[in-house]
Order: sequence, then structure tokens, then C-alpha cells
Amino acid sequence: MRTWFLAVLSLVVGVMTAAAFAQDSKSSLQIERGKYLAEQVARCQDCHTPKTATGELIKEQWFKGTTLNVTPSAPIADWHQKSPDITSTSALWQRWGQDGLVGFLQTAKNPRGGKAGPPMPAYTLTKDDAEAIVAFLKTLP
Ligand code: HEC
Repeated sequence: MRTWFLAVLSLVVGVMTAAAFAQDSKSSLQIERGKYLAEQVARCQDCHTPKTATGELIKEQWFKGTTLNVTPSAPIADWHQKSPDITSTSALWQRWGQDGLVGFLQTAKNPRGGKAGPPMPAYTLTKDDAEAIVAFLKTLP
């Protein structure tokens, strides 16, 4: 009786561990892909990370929002010189939540239906890509 119980218990624990491991590796792959999309494809950091006086991105303030060091050569309506902090601890995350951010990257519309001003690109990504980027943003302190 006791042996049976232990055998069943160890089976259950084993299955749960395997499932947790599969889930873990799935989410770490998603984060890795999100990092690649954000940093190498969309290059969010070029506008959302502060730079030194010589134009180097400041690693300690990755995606913390900044004042852009570029301006349009001809006036652009609604031009925004500042980009917000988009890390997981930002006010924006508090207001929009994870779903709000995913929706924004899919539709270019914020949770209230408005659009971001230039030079923020109007991304209309697939759900998978938007979710991957947001999973990566979630890892940024
Ligand atoms: C070319 C510069 C640029 C790039 C590249 C860029 N952003 Fe932005 N982003 C901005 C600026 C400027 C704003 C502020 C616009 C505003 O407040 O309307 C902004 C605003 C935002 C907002 C808030 C929008 C709102 O309506 O308040 C989010 C979220 C955001 N960016 C996420 C991202 C992500 C994620 C990436 C990369 C996938 C990215 N941005 C790439 C410049 C950029």
C-alpha cells in the first residue's frame, strides 16, 4: 500500500517536473527571441535608452527612456523629443499591463485607442512577435 502510494507520488512529481521544465525552456526561448526582435530588428534601445555624451548606449539604463539626441531637419507634427521608460518597473507597465503592451505592438494603438507620436514607429507585429518582445521587456528591471 505504502509502496504503491510512493510509486504514484514519484510518477506525479516526475510528470510535473518535466512539464515545468518544458514550460521553462519554452519561456526562455520566447525571451531570447523577444530580445533579438527588440534589440536587433526593431532596435528599441536606439530611442529608449539614454546615451553618453559621445553617443554610447548606457547599459545600466537599458530601455529606461530618454531625451532623443536627434531632431527632424524639417518640422514634423506631434514630434516627441522624449521616449518613456518601458522596463517592467515603469509607470507605463503599471498603467497598461502586459496585455496592453502586447496589444500596442500588434495594433500600434494604446489601450485607450490612441497612437504614439513620431518618431515612435507604428508597429503592427504578429501576436507571437509582440508577446516575445513583451516577455523580454518583462525581464528588464
Ligand atoms: C525611432 C525611435 C523609437 C524606436 C526605434 C522605438 N521607440 Fe518607442 N517611443 C519613441 C518615442 C519618441 C515615444 C514617445 C511617443 C509618445 O509619447 O507618443 C515612444 C513611445 C513608446 C511607447 C509608449 C507609447 C504611448 O502611446 O505612450 C511604448 C510602449 C514604446 N515606445 C515601445 C517601444 C518598443 C517596444 C520598441 C521596440 C520594439 C520601440 N518603442 C522602439 C521612440 C522610439
